[in-house]
Amino acid sequence: MTSVPVELGDNSYQINIIANLLSSDETSQLIPKSHQYAIISNQQIADLYLSSVKKLLPDEAAVTVLLIPDTEQSKSLTEFSRLHDALLEAKFNRSSTIIALGGGVVGDLSGFVAATLHRGCNFVQIPTSLLAQVDSSVGGKTAINHSSGKNLIGSFYQPKVVLIDPQTLKTLDSRQFSAGMAEVIKYAFIEDSDFLLWLEENKKAISDFELPVLEQMIAHCCRIKAAVVSADEKEKGQRVLLNFGHTFGHALENISGYGVLLHGEAVSIGMLLAAKLSVTHNLMESQFLQRLEQLLVHFNLPTTIPNNLDAKELLASMYRDKKNLSNNLQLILPHGPGHTESQNWDADETIINLLVEFGADK
Ligand SMILES: NC(=O)c1ccc[n+]([C@@H]2O[C@H](COP(=O)([O-])OP(=O)(O)OC[C@H]3O[C@@H](n4cnc5c(N)ncnc54)[C@H](O)[C@@H]3O)[C@@H](O)[C@H]2O)c1
Repeated sequence: MTSVPVELGDNSYQINIIANLLSSDETSQLIPKSHQYAIISNQQIADLYLSSVKKLLPDEAAVTVLLIPDTEQSKSLTEFSRLHDALLEAKFNRSSTIIALGGGVVGDLSGFVAATLHRGCNFVQIPTSLLAQVDSSVGGKTAINHSSGKNLIGSFYQPKVVLIDPQTLKTLDSRQFSAGMAEVIKYAFIEDSDFLLWLEENKKAISDFELPVLEQMIAHCCRIKAAVVSADEKEKGQRVLLNFGHTFGHALENISGYGVLLHGEAVSIGMLLAAKLSVTHNLMESQFLQRLEQLLVHFNLPTTIPNNLDAKELLASMYRDKKNLSNNLQLILPHGPGHTESQNWDADETIINLLVEFGADK
């Protein structure tokens, strides 16, 4: 088993990664001891993994299962409130444990419920999508959506432990797997120059779901994210670099209508747009743009903007992105593998032309 520590003083925890973790008896020891547990999941994931997770909990403990609809719309005040009602009804207290079993939707909502129930109870993440295993389950960002935007209501709340079983990826839809790969490829440009080469050398093994390679890949991404989060838990500095591709990506998600592009697909196009900008402005050698594109194509990720999206609307949406702290656009631009920088950008015409070059309407 690979264990990756997330060093955050009193809030430190371990991310444990190994194939078949959910079916191993030893995993029970990794879960905080409580009298009461709630497993929050959705029907599809519960059908696959709920019985394994229940077996990991002490026989004498009371276990409540709460299922949410399998959609991004579950990250709502309505579901948040429904879960609170059920947990308070079942007399959950601060020493109770909430377990998120699922992808980023289940994780983000459950984490916010855990953060707010009695001002915080134990929280465990069992992420089952690739995106959740390499990104959303690590770092303590929890949130629900508001009608004016995604993830606008939430808090930073760290889990007690993250348990990752790469075997669960075998039941994940291939499009969802690819979307997770966009976040994996992102890490190669943020923190670690050797990781790009490793991904290129191992891309076939990854596509073939070779479990030891998947385990290595997930552990590596978690190590990078853990280091960034440990240095900057509340995104006041370096953590913003994790948003490489995301300012463009959020605009693409927003303007195409949520659900048309998966988050990772939008990030794929967003990373290419940012990389192209870097190359055009001599911030990065063009070979790295080509290598980025080749990897995205290998994992069936989109590399152009879908039809009929308007460049000016996309630009306006980029300005509305909550991560833009000033009136300028804040873009994370790659300078090569392992080196990205945050840059304020005020040349709107350049962005419009770039969007049009990638397929947006002028
Ligand atoms: N907290 C963070 O730091 C952070 C970071 C990135 C994204 N997010 C959030 O994460 C969410 C997206 O997460 P996601 O991509 O995991 O989407 P998701 O949770 O909707 O999961 C994608 C789909 O895969 C299914 N699924 C998950 N695991 C499965 C498995 N092992 N087998 C079969 N089906 C499985 C889910 O039921 C769902 O239908 C968004 O709401 C986004 O805002 C949060």
